Amino acid sequence: MRKTFSKIKKVNGELTFKGDKSISHRAVFFSSMADGFSSIKNLSDCEDVKSTLNAFELLGAEFHYENIELIVKGIGRNNFHPPNKHIYCGNSGTTARLLSGILATQNFSSTIIGDESLSTRPMKRIIEPLGLMGAKISHNNFKLPLTFYPVEEIKPIKYELKISSAQVKSAILLAGLFNENKTEVIEIIPSRDHTERMLNLDYEFQNDRKIIYSSSKNYPYNSDYYIPGDISSASYFIVLTLLCPNSELLIKNISINPTRTGFIDILKLMGADIFIEETGISNGEPYGNIFVKSSDLKNVEIASHLIPNIIDEIPILSIVGIFAEGVFCIRDAVELRYKETDRISALCKNFQSLGLDIKEFEDGFEMSGKIKKNFGEFKTFNDHRIAMAFSILALLLKEGGEIDNAECINISNPDFFRQLESIIQT
Ligand code: S3P
Repeated sequence: MRKTFSKIKKVNGELTFKGDKSISHRAVFFSSMADGFSSIKNLSDCEDVKSTLNAFELLGAEFHYENIELIVKGIGRNNFHPPNKHIYCGNSGTTARLLSGILATQNFSSTIIGDESLSTRPMKRIIEPLGLMGAKISHNNFKLPLTFYPVEEIKPIKYELKISSAQVKSAILLAGLFNENKTEVIEIIPSRDHTERMLNLDYEFQNDRKIIYSSSKNYPYNSDYYIPGDISSASYFIVLTLLCPNSELLIKNISINPTRTGFIDILKLMGADIFIEETGISNGEPYGNIFVKSSDLKNVEIASHLIPNIIDEIPILSIVGIFAEGVFCIRDAVELRYKETDRISALCKNFQSLGLDIKEFEDGFEMSGKIKKNFGEFKTFNDHRIAMAFSILALLLKEGGEIDNAECINISNPDFFRQLESIIQT
């Protein structure tokens, strides 16, 4: 379904967000794995997290809502049920990769499948380390479907990550929970650390490398979870406020995990008026309030070690890049080509359609020049983050614009349009 936007005058108001997608996935994982009852408050209702819930239902977890709280009856370490059909992970890379870490350790066979986009995404990154742990996995040229064959025991490993990826790191650490000896994951460039925080894993730094340990002593117990709001979903509204004149926005109870707020650090370097106030911590995850005001911005150099921290926010940061003084450049971000769509190509195509000057590289792009069209016609490539980023841009163009698929936004934020309506003035 197409959606058309008109230019807005200003942003004003207050927003709260459903639970962070990454933290929500993990709360469903850990509560489902545990023995006994857990509760989850403010769980994300996005399509990706529904994929995780469906997967664990097939493996024996039970879920029901009591008011707005999800009650989970966990499976327990040795009680996973062999699924009676293939496990469909939809569009969700986090579901597929983290779940692989668990299925690889079981004494039954299982197969995971996904939608068209997920079926093209690289899985060698998890197949290789899980194979070193003794997992038996068949695959379609290192892509889905993946079939896991029964194993007697999974072996601990010491593994240095070849790419900075929280999904890969988590898959190995989760498999490590099924042996009493320690698995060690060595991370050179930091990625989001929700798995470590929520499982309270031990870690240390050796020469700037983070070494994270997991073993059966870290296997999750049942717990009560409160999931702070999704900072990645909030990033679109933060940017809209910054780029609209006379605008102000307050975002409450949002995740401010430092491995996720890199885009705010960059926006501040660009001159953004953003203030963060920490108000609490839950299951190791800090949260707080964010105040944003319209700002004049300048493009800055984006250091390569920050890329994993801002990976999901690069589409919306590049929208800021158009309106900020100077040239916007992103490099060392080849991982963007392996997301829900090839995001480098998607961004470059849409920016070119506005007449901006684009140089595309294998690992990023450079953008300069001025917008030459008053109305934007944007392709989403069925990617939620591309759809949200270009919805925001359409609201800022002289005559507005349109996106070709609004529904894909439900992958991460079904509230997106309602939230927009509540804070914009036309
Ligand atoms: C995620 C990790 C990131 C991120 C994705 C969610 C997670 O992927 O892009 O949206 O929850 O662990 P990679 O691990 O592939 O970088």
